[in-house]
Amino acid sequence: MSETAKINIQGKETELPIIVGTENEVGIDISKLRGDTGAVTLDFGYKNTGSTTSAITYLDGEKGILRHRGYAIEELAEKAEFLEIAYLLIHKDLPTKEEYTKWDNEIRRHTLVNSDIQNIFDAWPTGSHPMGQLIAMISSLSSFYPESLNPNSGEEAKMRTITRLLAKMPTICAMISKNKIGHPLIYPQNNLTYVENYLNMTFKHVTEDYEIDPILVKAMNKLMILHADHEQNCSASTVRLVGSSHANLYASVSAGVAALWGPLHGGANQKVIEMLEAIQADGGNAQKYLDKAKDKNDPFRLMGFGHRVYKNFDPRARIIKKSADEVLEKLGVNDPTLAIAKKLEEAALSDPYFIERKLFPNVDFYSGIIYRAMGFPVEMFTVLFALGRLPGWIAQWKEMMEDKQPIGRPRQIYTGPAIRDFVPMDERK
Ligand code: SDX
Repeated sequence: MSETAKINIQGKETELPIIVGTENEVGIDISKLRGDTGAVTLDFGYKNTGSTTSAITYLDGEKGILRHRGYAIEELAEKAEFLEIAYLLIHKDLPTKEEYTKWDNEIRRHTLVNSDIQNIFDAWPTGSHPMGQLIAMISSLSSFYPESLNPNSGEEAKMRTITRLLAKMPTICAMISKNKIGHPLIYPQNNLTYVENYLNMTFKHVTEDYEIDPILVKAMNKLMILHADHEQNCSASTVRLVGSSHANLYASVSAGVAALWGPLHGGANQKVIEMLEAIQADGGNAQKYLDKAKDKNDPFRLMGFGHRVYKNFDPRARIIKKSADEVLEKLGVNDPTLAIAKKLEEAALSDPYFIERKLFPNVDFYSGIIYRAMGFPVEMFTVLFALGRLPGWIAQWKEMMEDKQPIGRPRQIYTGPAIRDFVPMDERK
C-alpha cells in the first residue's frame, strides 16, 4: 500500500503520509496540508476525522468488535473484576495478583471524601438532576486536593490524583442518591470491594442491616465493565480536549460528565426507559412509535438505537440484553418494558428504514431495564454510565498527557459577512 496520499488543490499539490494502525486501519496525516496548500479539512461531527492515535481501545463498527488493549469485551465482561479493567485501561495491561492487591488496597484507602463536600450538596435546589451535581462534585475535588491542580506535577502526584478520583467516585455517586431522597449518608467500608461498597452506600438504610446481593454485585460489575471505555466518543474526546489545555484531571473529567449527559450520548439510557414507559402507557403499540421514529417531521427518535460507529450490533448491547433476562429472572422482577423493548427491537430490525441506515440497539437500549430492576431511580442511570466510564476517561486523559499532545484547537471555514464599515447606532436603519 502506498505510503502517501497525493492531494491536488487548485493547482497546489501535496503528498501526505499514511498511518496504518494495528488492525490495518488507514489514516491520512494532514499535519502539513494547510502549510502546503492553504486548505483545511471540514468534517461536521468528526465523522471521518481521527483526533489521535491510541493504544487503549479498538472497535470495528462494521464487525461489532470491541477490545480493550487487545482483550475482547465478551471475555472481560464475563471473567474480570471492574477494578481489573480500570487497571488494564490506565496501566496498559492486566494486573498480576500482587499488582491488583496493591491497586485495590490503595483505592480502598481513599474512598472517603472531605465532609465539607456536603455543604455543596446542601446548596443544590431540591430536584436538581444528579448529572448536574456530579459535574460539580468531581470538579470540586480540585479544591479539596490542590495537588491535583498541576497535571504536570510528576508521576507520584498524578497517580495519587487518579487514585483519589477512582476511589471517591462511588462515594460521590452514592451521596447524590442519598441526598436526593433526604436520607442519612452511608459511609464507605474499606472491607468491601469496589462494587460492593457502591451498592452498600447506595442501598443500605442507616436504620437497617443490608445484605449485599451477589446477583446485584455480578450485574453491576458486568455493566460497569461494558461502559468502561469506548475510544474517541463524545465525552472521551471532551476529556482529551479540555485536558489538552493542561486543565487538571478533575476539571477534564467533569467536562466529560457534562458531555455524557446529552440524550444523544449517555443521557440516552434515561430517555430509553422514559420512551418505553410512554409506549407502555400508550397501549404498547411498537409499530406506532417506529413510524414516528421514521417520520422526518416528527422529532421522536428511537432512543437506544443507532450509533456513530457501530453499523452492526453493538457487542455491549448483545451482552446486556442477555443479562437483562437473567438478572430480572433472578431478582423475580417482571418489567413489562422489557417485553416492549424486545418487540421494538424485533420490529425495527426487520424494517427497511432501520436496515438501510444500519440502526441497531446500542449500549443504552437495555441497560436501563437492568438498572431499574436493581432499584436505581431513572435519574441516576446516566450517573451509573459515568461511574463505569470513569477509568476510560482517565486512561484517555493520561495517554494524551503522556503523548505530550498539543492543545486542541480546530480550524473552521468562515461563512459570515465580508469586511464592512461600522455604522453609528443613530444612523442604523
Ligand atoms: C452512546 O460514540 C460512542 O461510542 C457513544 C457510546 C459510548 O459508549 O461512549 O457508544 C454511548 O452515546 C450510544 C448512543 C446513545 N444515543 C442514542 O441512543 C440516541 C438515539 N440515537 C441517535 O440519535 C443516533 O443514532 C446517534 C446520535 C447515536 C448517532 O447519530 P449519527 O451518527 O450522527 O447519525 P445520524 O443522526 O446522522 O443518523 C443517520 C440516519 C439519519 O437518517 P437520514 O437523515 O439519513 O434519513 O439515521 C437516522 C437519522 O435520522 N437515525 C435515527 C436514529 N438514529 C439515527 N432515526 C431514528 N431513531 C434513531 N435512534
